[in-house]
Amino acid sequence: MKRVLVIGNGGRESAIISKLKENPDIKIFQWQFNSALNGVFPYRSDVWDINTLTDNLKKDEFDLVIVGPEAPLVMGIADELEKRGILVFGPFQRGALIEGSKSFAKNFMKENNIPTAEYDLIKSYEEGKQILKNRKFPVYIKASGLAAGKGALFVKNLDEGIRILKEIFIEKKFGEQDEAVIEDFLEGEEISMLAFISAGQYFLLPPARDYKKAYDNDKGLNTGGMGSICPVNVPESSYNKWGKIIIGRTVEGFKKAGIDYRGILYAGLMVNNNEPYVLEYNCRFGDPETQSILPLIEGDLFDICCNVAMNKKINFGIKKDLKAITVILAAKGYPENYKKGIEIKIPGMIDNISILPAGLKRKNGKYVSTGGRILGITGIEKDLEKLRKKIYTYIDEISNENTFYRMDIGI
Ligand code: AMP
Ligand code: GLY
Repeated sequence: MKRVLVIGNGGRESAIISKLKENPDIKIFQWQFNSALNGVFPYRSDVWDINTLTDNLKKDEFDLVIVGPEAPLVMGIADELEKRGILVFGPFQRGALIEGSKSFAKNFMKENNIPTAEYDLIKSYEEGKQILKNRKFPVYIKASGLAAGKGALFVKNLDEGIRILKEIFIEKKFGEQDEAVIEDFLEGEEISMLAFISAGQYFLLPPARDYKKAYDNDKGLNTGGMGSICPVNVPESSYNKWGKIIIGRTVEGFKKAGIDYRGILYAGLMVNNNEPYVLEYNCRFGDPETQSILPLIEGDLFDICCNVAMNKKINFGIKKDLKAITVILAAKGYPENYKKGIEIKIPGMIDNISILPAGLKRKNGKYVSTGGRILGITGIEKDLEKLRKKIYTYIDEISNENTFYRMDIGI
């Protein structure tokens, strides 16, 4: 029996674990354990800090460690594990900078001729103010470092821009940030392009989309994602062409910079007139896109991840005739103020529908919420309308007066 450790406990990690479970010959451990999941074992529930966890991992304890979230990767967990001789899925720190630093990512794109919005890099409140005075609005202002998905801000006018610069540089609302990017507003259609990077090559996953706003028709505040769909309806030839321009040039750029990148590379694209522009890079699987992408992969995720970790070529199929949708059940009030401890009743399972826990735990035989995004319902089916009907009938049974979900996922 092979042993794999998954780091992270959100919906994305539930999806990774669920895919890994297709291989009956591996034993899956999780840090930090999500007690709402079946068939996975807790690992070091006594340890709360990632550095302590890493420091104590032993060489032969696991055949593979899969890192879900970006923060440990940006901190250099892959480098630390590699030093200890532990096989790890996820890029080393230098590669993770593509997500960890927007200024690095923007400069990298410029150097490698990768299309993205025009931008200015600023290092202080004063510098930003001067630049904004000569800017056409709207713009996006982005804190350079990790900001838990909350660091990209839409700015309509100068007053608003000045207030946001203050929040970034003076009030430190987004943590310690000493750089920010001011970039042009791009219009178009958003697509999440993910690829495995290994052996100096890229292996595209089918196009996905997440639904970031809280309510139907993209109303309400930005959230961690209220649902996803895969594949998005774009011609395969266009998608492959964009892959060459975006991921292909990125991989070549890594090589030029001497960056040994292995893992998932995620490019958030804005597509306008059939031309892709990068809005952001992530150095890991997207959440909640992964929940809809992985069920469409034909192949053993454990094998794929081991091969990527060893920098080998990989091989997998895509279930081309199927579509996947994920709808997130959230606590009422999310992403602002919401209750925790909501009891969730899970009905019997139905074919081709799975529940992927996020902010959910099992306590005294009951399921109770621990976060704003409680769980995702993922389904696969040939027919989109049939799939939507199945998912929504199911989630309606689970939802109660303290929860809500978007009705327009996949329309
Ligand atoms: P980011 O964290 O950079 O991915 O930005 C979060 C979201 O903000 C994106 O998914 C887009 O919806 C939006 N966004 C970011 N940058 C831009 C831009 N330059 N133009 C239009 N929308 C943007
Ligand atoms: N779905 C957006 C992200 O994972 O960053």
